Amino acid sequence: MRSLWAETAPPIPDDASAPPGGTTVVVAGAGLTGLAAATMLQSAGVRVAVVEARSIGAVTTGNTTGKLSLLQGDVLAHVREHAGDEALRAYVESNRAGQEWLCREMQGIAGAVAEESAVTYATTPAGVKTLDAEFAAAQSAGLPVERLAQPARDELGVPFEIEAALRLEAQFRLHPLRVLAELARRLRAQGVPIVTGCRMTDVAVEDHGVVVKTERGDIRAATLVLAAGASVLDRGLLFARLVPSRSFVVAYDLPAGAPSPRGMFLSVDEPSRSLRCDDVDGIRVLTIGGGAHITGRAEHTGRLLAEVDDWALSNWPAARRRTWWAAQDYRSVTHLPFAGLLPRSGGHIYAATGYGKWGMTNAVASAMRIAGRIVGSEEPWAATLDAHHAGLADIGETIQANTSVGGHLLADWVRSGVGQSTTDPPAEGSGRIARRGMSPVAESTTGGVTRRLSGVCTHLGGILTWNDAECSWDCPLHGSRFTPGGQVLEGPAVAALSTADE
Ligand SMILES: Cc1cc2nc3c(=O)[nH]c(=O)nc-3n(C[C@H](O)[C@H](O)[C@H](O)COP(=O)(O)OP(=O)(O)OC[C@H]3O[C@@H](n4cnc5c(N)ncnc54)[C@H](O)[C@@H]3O)c2cc1C
Ligand code: FES
Repeated sequence: MRSLWAETAPPIPDDASAPPGGTTVVVAGAGLTGLAAATMLQSAGVRVAVVEARSIGAVTTGNTTGKLSLLQGDVLAHVREHAGDEALRAYVESNRAGQEWLCREMQGIAGAVAEESAVTYATTPAGVKTLDAEFAAAQSAGLPVERLAQPARDELGVPFEIEAALRLEAQFRLHPLRVLAELARRLRAQGVPIVTGCRMTDVAVEDHGVVVKTERGDIRAATLVLAAGASVLDRGLLFARLVPSRSFVVAYDLPAGAPSPRGMFLSVDEPSRSLRCDDVDGIRVLTIGGGAHITGRAEHTGRLLAEVDDWALSNWPAARRRTWWAAQDYRSVTHLPFAGLLPRSGGHIYAATGYGKWGMTNAVASAMRIAGRIVGSEEPWAATLDAHHAGLADIGETIQANTSVGGHLLADWVRSGVGQSTTDPPAEGSGRIARRGMSPVAESTTGGVTRRLSGVCTHLGGILTWNDAECSWDCPLHGSRFTPGGQVLEGPAVAALSTADE
């Protein structure tokens, strides 16, 4: 499992030194949100330090499909429905500002950004209805989107029938790790520490700032910016308003003459398909995303991955699988990203999350919102987004998201109670929840090693499930993930799983 981006970018150096004891702003997380925020703060003259739990780009940004686009599947219609036309226009403006910032910063950086059109397509009558709602929303937001009725396969370069499509020219595809490598290089050249392998574990709020606790020491700062993807601190219960969605991405080498999509594609019908094409050393590489599921809630993730493969090979029979990977992102119940001060943080902790798989533009826009508030220069669109309050539809969805979380919590504890009790180790590559006394135990075998750990998520007590495609323990409540050895991979948890008591 290695993303095409990790395969094709020079490695980004780690820095295992101790974090500084004090600074003005600490940014937790070195994905696109964190490095964009650090760049904006540093260039405004603010002293900033970045702490990263793993390595730069290790989680979602390094595993994205990297479309830097204002046409975003059916997102605009959702935003319009939940928040109205004014918020929709502010959303589009914020995304445009994010897109422009990245293009400007990456000017002249080889292989970082390339212009491409974006296409959202429907293959069923129901999909066409969704597409038309999106078309109306795009028009109301002033986006010059073109509607194509039953476009010819040749026109779009795909080997399947399309009922209707929306196309927006002059969007961009990113190489996300080249982008992060360049941002990190510049920050370090300006003396900004980016300490890797250094997880933030807690924060204490004091009168004049925060003490950020990390695995390698405390940092005193005036402000903390949480750019951790997930909501790693529970103030304001932000995690309860986010739904973690995980997807597979598979990259295929295409033979000469195979159809090659003209643009970056996303379907509105289920199961959703995301397509983009890149030239890698003279080979056309087709990247397909699919298999979306709520983290920890799919029974067999391996089947979802196989289903993406089947679809790809039925349409491109001569394609050769090159690599695959998976990633997750968090959708807010309002369909609008959260970027602002956390409640009960004394005005010292900002967080940004909830990009709903459109973080290339939204991460930068969120970084602008937060950096703007810290240095006192807010964009008008930021004020409109900040002022938006959840409407009734959103409150309904928050309750629904939490009811399903509550249902899982209960059902999974019951499941752990009836888990088969056997002394045989799980087969290679598999895992199961067993029970020892009152405690759920996560048993797995990988690389010939059988491990027995606590089966209870260290965030808020969800019972873990085995992800057979990626060999990880995933939490069905808020999306935390752990290695077979119990280390945190991602999500709101900050502590490793303990070994099961013998
Ligand atoms: C399959 C998939 C495809 C996507 N495709 C697109 C696309 O085509 N276009 C688009 O616009 N968006 C896309 N997205 C969304 C986009 O990739 C994300 O929204 C974006 O990368 C999020 O960036 P981030 O910096 O907020 O999070 P991340 O990149 O996850 O960075 C967060 C960082 O914080 C670190 N961290 C976590 N906890 C701590 C802690 N306690 N202490 C210190 N560090 C911590 C993590 O290790 C991580 O490196 C996609 C998402 C997925 C899942
Ligand atoms: S992620 Fe919240 S309980 Fe596991």
